[in-house]
Amino acid sequence: MGGLSLKNKILTKVKDLPTLPEVATKVMEVANNPRSSAADMAKVISQDQALTAKILKLVNSAYYGFPRKISTVTQAIVILGFRTVRDLVLNISISGMFNSKNVGELSAEALWLHNLGVAVTAKILAKRIGYEPLEEAFTAGLLHDLGKLVFIKLFPREYEKIVTIAINGNKWIRDVEESLLEVDHALIGKWVSENWKFPPQLVRAIQLHHQPEIDNEYPELTSIVHGADVLTRIKKIGSGGDNQIPSFKKDAWVLLKLRPQDLNDIYAEIDREIKEAISFLKILRGKE
Ligand SMILES: [Fe+2]
Ligand SMILES: [Fe+2]
Repeated sequence: MGGLSLKNKILTKVKDLPTLPEVATKVMEVANNPRSSAADMAKVISQDQALTAKILKLVNSAYYGFPRKISTVTQAIVILGFRTVRDLVLNISISGMFNSKNVGELSAEALWLHNLGVAVTAKILAKRIGYEPLEEAFTAGLLHDLGKLVFIKLFPREYEKIVTIAINGNKWIRDVEESLLEVDHALIGKWVSENWKFPPQLVRAIQLHHQPEIDNEYPELTSIVHGADVLTRIKKIGSGGDNQIPSFKKDAWVLLKLRPQDLNDIYAEIDREIKEAISFLKILRGKE
């Protein structure tokens, strides 16, 4: 790889990442096909017993709080909808591939808690503007920093250095990523999610969560994730790998119809919802 730039070397390594489990890829295909039925999707999922069991555990968790037990995948699809079940499969697959590694001062727990905080907050912001499906906002929040998970998996030593510089030098983690690796986690996240055929709005939210103002295609979801990232950092839920608090981009603020006096209600709602979400995350990451 002699003459390649660092950026290209990283891209080559990213391309060598294992693909998503086949069942997840199939589920996304089925979800994208308007002619698919709940039975088609259930058939694909039920070929994988571990996945089926996990989906049922998640849909029966306190996070959803359904009064009656959901006992089949078909039932879950009917109640939650195609896109939500697709997202569950995606979340299960991703958390299985990138489970945990501490990098210096950034623990895996803190990073996942940051991701979860963004997921919960994204869902709250989505509800306020009537974005549907709400669970898509949750998923976009949970996966928004996918690029950091990829960095940690592929370049743990370099990323430890990046985290140390960001925290001790009071710098933005994105800037340090860029200066040491020539790419930031938003771009890495875009490469990977595109390669894995994520739905396009998720790819955009991952790529542009720091620059929602330039997303003309899916500005709602990208603004939701951006705003959720900012509020989660203000509330200091988990850690994104540095101690910086980004400013809320004006376009996103306007699109989300926020007023300064709304923030306290939103913070209170985050506090109410995070507990159940933590139980969801534990099941997802196989810690329960
Ligand atoms: Fe980020
Ligand atoms: Fe983040």
